[in-house]
Amino acid sequence: MSSTPTMKSLNIDNINPHIRAAKYAVRGELAVKSEEYRAQLERGERGNLPFDTVIAANIGNPQQLDQEPITFFRQVASILENPKLLEHKDVLVNALGYKEDVIARAEKLLKAVGSVGAYSQSQGAPAIRDEVAKFIERRDGYSADPKNIFLSNGASAGVNALLNIICASPNTGVLIPIPQYPLYTATLAVLNATAVPYYLDEAQGWGTSFADIKASYEKAISNGTDVRAIVVINPGNPTGATLSAADIRSVIEFAAEKKLIIMADEVYQTNVFTGQFISFKKGLRDLQKEQPGKFDQVELASLHSVSKGMVGECGHRGGYYEMVGIDEKVQAEVYKYVSIQLCPPVIGQCIVEMMVNPPKESEPSYPLYKQEYDGIFKSLHQRATALYQAFTKMEGVECGEPAGSMYLFPTIKLPAKAIEQAKKEGRQPDEFYALRMLDATGICTVPGSGFGQKEGTYHFRTTFLAPGTEWVGRIVDFHKKFMDEFR
Ligand SMILES: Cc1ncc(COP(=O)(O)O)c(C=O)c1O
Repeated sequence: MSSTPTMKSLNIDNINPHIRAAKYAVRGELAVKSEEYRAQLERGERGNLPFDTVIAANIGNPQQLDQEPITFFRQVASILENPKLLEHKDVLVNALGYKEDVIARAEKLLKAVGSVGAYSQSQGAPAIRDEVAKFIERRDGYSADPKNIFLSNGASAGVNALLNIICASPNTGVLIPIPQYPLYTATLAVLNATAVPYYLDEAQGWGTSFADIKASYEKAISNGTDVRAIVVINPGNPTGATLSAADIRSVIEFAAEKKLIIMADEVYQTNVFTGQFISFKKGLRDLQKEQPGKFDQVELASLHSVSKGMVGECGHRGGYYEMVGIDEKVQAEVYKYVSIQLCPPVIGQCIVEMMVNPPKESEPSYPLYKQEYDGIFKSLHQRATALYQAFTKMEGVECGEPAGSMYLFPTIKLPAKAIEQAKKEGRQPDEFYALRMLDATGICTVPGSGFGQKEGTYHFRTTFLAPGTEWVGRIVDFHKKFMDEFR
């Protein structure tokens, strides 16, 4: 750019300092650099680059990495976008292979929302919230009330709304798991509130450690922080771990004792390879049933999304959160806050409806839906396993077996010479490693420092979404050369 920044009224020194302070590594420096490499390759200017493709393993964005959308979702969406297609049902059925239930679903959704080009209620279309409530009921075995369900512009908008409501002053503290998806610390930074980190226990498959949560809470309180909420990501990002029933209970018990609002980020609830997903809502209702009275005051918000799972429709921006036990007046303020943004994307809301209410076994779209869904699940598991096996053979790398979500988060023992070199370059050691990996292989990962990690430990996070396994070989070769250079 040719203009001199100092000539501008708005400059980097006078914008909102809290935006500047926020850090979001999953789309940070490495991601920007990888996009530059991609553009360079697309222009046919490979030059000296030692790779011919760029692989975005930095973000859980399945369809960017060639995951096919589920046919049912897109067939219905095509009619929602262009309802005139309904005037040619014969073409839809006979020429394009749309099944009757696709047409019926599109008609039902059009009836629910009118036009996808119209704003809906701020909280989301009532008929879709009804379907979400029924889904939660089927999943947990406990009722859900559509009036407590807010459809959202992805789970991110839900996190944003909830943290905006919770954070009353710079002194408001929110317990955040470390490592964490940086949406949480970044949003708290923007809100000028206080992140209170608690460490997950790597030795116990990245479960929560009650002792650590308690110690972090007490330390924050003794520093004068008003700790109001606890965030739990289950299954975890970046760790992939699914929390046990016991871990869930101990978080709820702690929250009840200290009057903390629980924010349960459950966007990976169907990406589970080992263990079993249990929602916080079910955990809470179970405790309320077993010990009447004791948990009546617990406040919980749990979030879900169309971006993950086998749906992978991140670009459509759909999600929801359910609020349980929240004061009515507070909920009204949440409603006001989301009204200021008018409404979540209506197509995204319709994708939420299809995610929570997919074709049933008796319906004609079911066989293809099931085949596609299971195919995606299996292929994710296979790719995760291939990557994991490669990691187990790499010098100084340790990685838990793939447990879920879309990521592996190996520990790397970096040689002292590499740490020294990183320091000279003013970088965190794992950032230095990940940058070297990008420059050598075109594979963009995220250094562990972007998620937080225990002092002196180093990690990197990679998704296992990229097709094929050739790129895994690139990581193995790079790592060997890196270790040879710095050992
Ligand atoms: C744990 C977690 N929560 C929330 C999100 C945001 O999802 P959405 O696309 O629904 O905003 C992500 C995205 O990667 C995530 O990993």
